[in-house]
Amino acid sequence: MSALLSVRDLAVTFSTPRGPAHVVGGLDFDVEAGRTLAIVGESGSGKSVSSLALLGLLPDAVTRVSGSAVFDGAELIGRSEEQLRHVRGAGIGMVFQDPMTSLNPVLTVERQLAEALRAHGRVSAEAVRARSVELLDDVGIPDAAARLRAYPHQLSGGMRQRVMIAIALAGEPRVLIADEATTALDVTVQAQILELVARLQDERGTGVVWITHDLGVVAGIADHVVVMYAGRCVEEGPVDALYARPSHPYTRGLLESLPVLDDARPAREREALTTMPGLPPDPVDLPPGCAFRPRCAYRLDPRCATQVPPLEPVAGSVETHRAATFYRLPAAGDAQVRR
Ligand SMILES: Nc1ncnc2c1ncn2[C@@H]1O[C@H](COP(=O)(O)OP(=O)(O)OP(=O)(O)O)[C@@H](O)[C@H]1O
Ligand SMILES: [Mg+2]
Repeated sequence: MSALLSVRDLAVTFSTPRGPAHVVGGLDFDVEAGRTLAIVGESGSGKSVSSLALLGLLPDAVTRVSGSAVFDGAELIGRSEEQLRHVRGAGIGMVFQDPMTSLNPVLTVERQLAEALRAHGRVSAEAVRARSVELLDDVGIPDAAARLRAYPHQLSGGMRQRVMIAIALAGEPRVLIADEATTALDVTVQAQILELVARLQDERGTGVVWITHDLGVVAGIADHVVVMYAGRCVEEGPVDALYARPSHPYTRGLLESLPVLDDARPAREREALTTMPGLPPDPVDLPPGCAFRPRCAYRLDPRCATQVPPLEPVAGSVETHRAATFYRLPAAGDAQVRR
């Protein structure tokens, strides 16, 4: 199947007063019709910057973007603002992580929804209004007709996040990028939105990129997962394979730090697993070799200090499951290296 959106070797560097910040490097991923790609990683790993780069939404003067992103047969990287404006909305819709900076503070919810709907060809005022109410209903906004008249600052954070989702869906995008779209929402509303997006995927074949910290959500909705660390993909694969055999020490750390329901271990032991020690590196001062090395419990190979490990197929897993580490998991049946 050919991808709706194909990203290759994406790199983003910011000029900063301290020097160039290498925030994303060598990133590849594909978004396929009707499928969900999850991008996960700690704060600062470059998840948001990667998607903003595709849509030309980073500040030009201080940003260098390279690589390729092909959407609908056309290259996005290096296109003009004018050309990218046509892609945003109906081509690639985005739910931004920070609704306050992306909603227009001087326009009502109704005006902002109407703009998105008109861009998609819905012209009569009645049709626009009816569809707007329907969209707000869909994302779980009570008393939708009244909310249409509200300005963004009159809404709670959770409501704004839902309005953002409604606006992104109004454009009926072929690819939807949702950046921490349901993070601030309670679990009931979150479940409702996940269901809504799944329905759109079925009906329209929308390809979804779901960006999140929440590995719990990922397990339930993703087809394919990309794990990012310090701007690079350190492991990727079909969700079942990746959860069954997490192969990069970072992925294993992320999964081990997931809360386990009815965990019978003593509290002290449980706590020890809930956080991974150390911090991600400074993008202005990346360490030589593997960026995860300073935090890695398995940095045994001398190459770890000098070479960036390439993404390679994980032994004993499916072909599309790849990890970028010199550490090799023991084969099934071998004695465990670490307990
Ligand atoms: N305009 C900018 N100039 C310099 N550095 C920037 C700029 N925008 C983002 N960064 C840096 O890029 C890195 C990646 O940021 P990004 O927002 O993509 O992280 P993220 O993975 O989305 O994190 P979070 O989970 O917190 O949303 C961070 O180190 C951030 O400080
Ligand atoms: Mg982010």
